Amino acid sequence: MALERTLSIVKPDAVAKNVVGEIYSRFEKNGLKVVAAKMKHLSKQEAEGFYAVHRERPFFGALVNFMISGPVMIQVLEGEGAVLKNRDLMGATNPKDAAAGTIRADFADSIDANAVHGSDSLENAAIEISYFFPATDVYAR
Ligand code: PPS
Repeated sequence: MALERTLSIVKPDAVAKNVVGEIYSRFEKNGLKVVAAKMKHLSKQEAEGFYAVHRERPFFGALVNFMISGPVMIQVLEGEGAVLKNRDLMGATNPKDAAAGTIRADFADSIDANAVHGSDSLENAAIEISYFFPATDVYAR
């Protein structure tokens, strides 16, 4: 499997629950390294830009409002097959459908407040990483 990078966001609900460290621990125990990280309170414009691909979907406004409701923790994760590995650790979008032991099963309350974001493809990972981090702020380890 190839070494990959993916973008991960700990969303406002999980930051408010004080489980950033618990979530990082799951990344690290599963072979994902944090190679860039920052806490940020997104502006409406930043959140709308990040989720622009979903702008025609009925939940777009709710998603943007939720993502600007408090600070988020944004990180780049690196590891073998990092995109899929992170998606597996996250669990299904709706926590009701998330497998036991996944981040969303353990920390998410609803499909609106679902604890984490993770890039869904290698192509989108590159786009999303560059949205938040200049190349000089991502560290090879
Ligand atoms: S995906 O990965 O694009 O297939 O996921 P998808 O289910 O299409 O959802 C895209 C993002 O929108 C969020 N979402 C919602 N937010 C609020 N309300 C509702 N009903 C809702 N449904 C989906 C979902 O959490 C995804 O956000 P991210 O940050 O990418 O996980």
